[in-house]
Amino acid sequence: MMMIQPLYVLNGPNLNLLGTREPEIYGYHTLADVQTACETRAATYGLSVVFHQSNHEGELIDWIHEARGQGSAVILNAAGLTHTSIALHDALKTLTIPAIEVHLSNPHRREAFRHLSHISTAAHGVIAGFGMKSYVLAVEAAADLIGATSA
Ligand code: DQA
Repeated sequence: MMMIQPLYVLNGPNLNLLGTREPEIYGYHTLADVQTACETRAATYGLSVVFHQSNHEGELIDWIHEARGQGSAVILNAAGLTHTSIALHDALKTLTIPAIEVHLSNPHRREAFRHLSHISTAAHGVIAGFGMKSYVLAVEAAADLIGATSA
């Protein structure tokens, strides 16, 4: 059986506080719950997951660079950096593997400053507004894009 490289699931600033941070917006699931949900869904395609969170832009960029050689797709919740980071946009543009933008909330029904995403213009697609399910849907989309089939 051919081994497919892992999906990189990357999470930006403040997502380490998931579950206690504005739960009325982001829900009560923790980031550990999100990781388990991603791993469980990925496993049904025979895929593994590299899962990271950082509050530091450069660290996220380093993981995107790592995924260039070692990943089959990138799923990115850049959190607040979504709306500010040209550097993350540029890092995604270096990829030849698919990148999917995810958000727990739907930024388009929130404050105007969340309506601009520098990630969307470098991503294959965007999944937003479904809480933890956004990540599970992103895993499914990534699996489809890389041609992984469900067992
Ligand atoms: C978020 C939406 C962003 O606007 C916000 O800054 C976040 C989380 C989401 O997952 O809904 O930190 O990316």
